[in-house]
Amino acid sequence: MSTLAPTPPPIPAEDLTRQYREIAAEIRAALDEVLPTGRYVLGPVVETFEQEWAAYCGSRFCLGIGSGTEALHLALRAAGIGPGDEVIVPSNTYAATAFAVSYTGAVPVFADVDPATYNVTAEAVAGALTPRTRAVIAVHMYGQPVEMDPLVELGQRHGLLVIEDAAHGHGARYRGRRTGSLGEIGCFSFYPTKVLGCCGDGGAITTGREDRFEEIRRLRYMGQRVKHRHEVVGYQQRLDVLQAAILHVKLRHLDTWIARRQSWAALYSELLAGLPVVPPVVAPGNTHVYYMYTVRAERRDTLMEYLAGRGIGTQIIYPTLVPFQPAYRSLGYRAGQFPSAEAACREILCLPIFPELAEEEVRAVADAVRAFYAG
Ligand SMILES: Cc1ncc(COP(=O)(O)O)c(C=O)c1O
Repeated sequence: MSTLAPTPPPIPAEDLTRQYREIAAEIRAALDEVLPTGRYVLGPVVETFEQEWAAYCGSRFCLGIGSGTEALHLALRAAGIGPGDEVIVPSNTYAATAFAVSYTGAVPVFADVDPATYNVTAEAVAGALTPRTRAVIAVHMYGQPVEMDPLVELGQRHGLLVIEDAAHGHGARYRGRRTGSLGEIGCFSFYPTKVLGCCGDGGAITTGREDRFEEIRRLRYMGQRVKHRHEVVGYQQRLDVLQAAILHVKLRHLDTWIARRQSWAALYSELLAGLPVVPPVVAPGNTHVYYMYTVRAERRDTLMEYLAGRGIGTQIIYPTLVPFQPAYRSLGYRAGQFPSAEAACREILCLPIFPELAEEEVRAVADAVRAFYAG
């Protein structure tokens, strides 16, 4: 008989099955209500969620879109951005932020970020302005809002459209206001792992401007305002009805889930104190929803391997800056142009964080990090 202690169960970086088990009955009931109706495209279920999401974000209008990427794309298209234009985006974001710009024919111009919050700053955006700049996309990295007031002021001074990419930041607040209500257009992804995620692809835009709302509504459904009259070349990019029904159920739980993420983050920060690991910093006036709990760690790669060896899943969000991706080689960016984002890229590690984690799991992760540095 083996005398070895039993191996502890693995702690995944994320686990969608736990959330499903918690609310399976509610989700099934919602789907059972929709499926017999035969209304599978747009209609009241999508509209209900749109109204709820607009109200939650503190925005006047919301439209359900097929994905977060397409939400960004349609937001830019609605403002007439296209060939010859430039749009400033943070260098450390997900590729989708920049790809949405490229889809329009405009060019993404990458900016460095704040070393403490990992968010793009008005200063970095000001440094990237050219006469061709038409818009800036502020990404609320890891769940913490961008310092928006100076960015919005800069946008007003230079006639720029300020878009929020809130794919990481559902429910986070900046000076009391929720993401999605801070810029002219807010773009959300409901990709399953997000703070609010559906069971497939989904996205939304929020805006206070009726003209933007009308234009995005026309673009998301084949350029139509009236059926069979295609006024412009539009897209087939509507939020799916079943996903809207699921989001309607999940929205009821969102604040509880965010509070759980925040409590795991607080516990991690307490348990990791004194180690060569820098916990996330929350800027004054912000709340952080911890889509990711991102630390900067000494000997990051070795730590990641060590944790993997103990069954602990971690992630690097994101391992390569977008300007250095092969897709943007032709733009000619060079190492050293984004000092803060490049340093973060080498040092960041995202520890497991999702609402359904157990306290023992958070403690086990922190113990393993401590053991790594002790050894
Ligand atoms: C910052 C950011 N922007 C945009 C997207 C694109 O969203 P989606 O995957 O729904 O297209 C994502 C998510 O994947 C993201 O993390």
